[in-house]
Amino acid sequence: MRNPTAFLAEEYQALVKSELDWKLRILQGPSTPRCIVDGKKVLMLCSNNYLGLSDHPKVKEAAMQAIKTHGAGSGSVRPIAGTMDIHIELEKRLAKFKHAEASLVYQTGFAANAGLIPQLVGKEDLIISDELNHGSIIDGVRLAHGERAIYKHTDVEDLKRVLNEAEKHSPAYRRILIITDGVFSMDGDIAPLDGIAELAEKHGAMVYVDDAHGEGVLGDGGRGIVSHFKLDREKVHVEMGTFSKAFGVVGGHISGSRDLVDFAYNRSRTWLLSGSHPPPVAAACIAAIDVLEKEPQHVKKLWENTRYFKKTMKDLGFDVGNSQTPITPVMVGQSGVAKKLSSRLFEEGVFALPIVFPMVARDKARIRTMMNAALTKEDLDFAVSMFKKIGKELHII
Ligand SMILES: Cc1ncc(COP(=O)(O)O)c(C=O)c1O
Repeated sequence: MRNPTAFLAEEYQALVKSELDWKLRILQGPSTPRCIVDGKKVLMLCSNNYLGLSDHPKVKEAAMQAIKTHGAGSGSVRPIAGTMDIHIELEKRLAKFKHAEASLVYQTGFAANAGLIPQLVGKEDLIISDELNHGSIIDGVRLAHGERAIYKHTDVEDLKRVLNEAEKHSPAYRRILIITDGVFSMDGDIAPLDGIAELAEKHGAMVYVDDAHGEGVLGDGGRGIVSHFKLDREKVHVEMGTFSKAFGVVGGHISGSRDLVDFAYNRSRTWLLSGSHPPPVAAACIAAIDVLEKEPQHVKKLWENTRYFKKTMKDLGFDVGNSQTPITPVMVGQSGVAKKLSSRLFEEGVFALPIVFPMVARDKARIRTMMNAALTKEDLDFAVSMFKKIGKELHII
């Protein structure tokens, strides 16, 4: 007889045995630098809340007010009865912030990638993707009917090769979509979007950048990677992002032309068939944009902290990889060492997660630390002193 559910426990146990299961840590309170995790006071070094906005008074107040004026939920999907005035206001504010013609907000960044990418290409088309793109891009590409090609990580020359190869295809591809992360989340390096956009223009290809880790971080006032490279807006056709990282809330979004947005909301199944943001979420996102526009000190502090932490760690002899952003990997090599380092750090009051195979190559295990504008110099000195103590203990430095 077939056992319909035996695989659930079997596969889970196999993950536990190979130590590939997620052991969830529980945050008891807001995501702030000094927080309580699993009942222990620790210093948070692994949150994506880069600017500390998830606990910003103006962001919290906006969420509370919106519950009073609009209720706790939106009542529907956007195309039926779930588009409220605050959703429209959020999209207008975001487009203005990004200097784009229009923006569209999705439930999450994952929903934006999974909902839009498959609609941009069909059977007669080609998608060209960086080999280290985020899983949500990979899944969006998997849902698409077009052909697929990969170029070497951030390698514009290799992209050129793939594009030249694509031009030989017969019949000629109807459309070509080049897609890349803006900032790569495991290594913190930045995509060469200027070179990509230049090549795309020559081949009449669309450019789609996922700037989840670039907005609030890169560019003028945290406007993201398009601003960082001072690119002509029209050369980057889809600028995708998320409110779940530097903006401190939740929600995916795209910015670009009015044509893009009109097309996207009529075609993205994740947008059409899934409930819209509750009012407090939409209002908190508007307030987060407001804070970014009016309080430039947060982005400035994030970079000060980033420079200080990277330099101090390097001076101690740690390998902090090739990151160009606040994502600061502390490379240790073997998975077992990364796990041990993380658990010893936690015992000593520092919360920083290990990133191990299969998320990265077997010999590229690391602790991925994320800098945050709300960390003080004392916080950073404490973190560094603990890395130094345990790094020596484990013979990493
Ligand atoms: C590069 C990248 N794209 C997309 C996402 C998904 O964003 P969201 O959390 O809004 O679903 C993430 C989040 O992990 C990410 O790092």
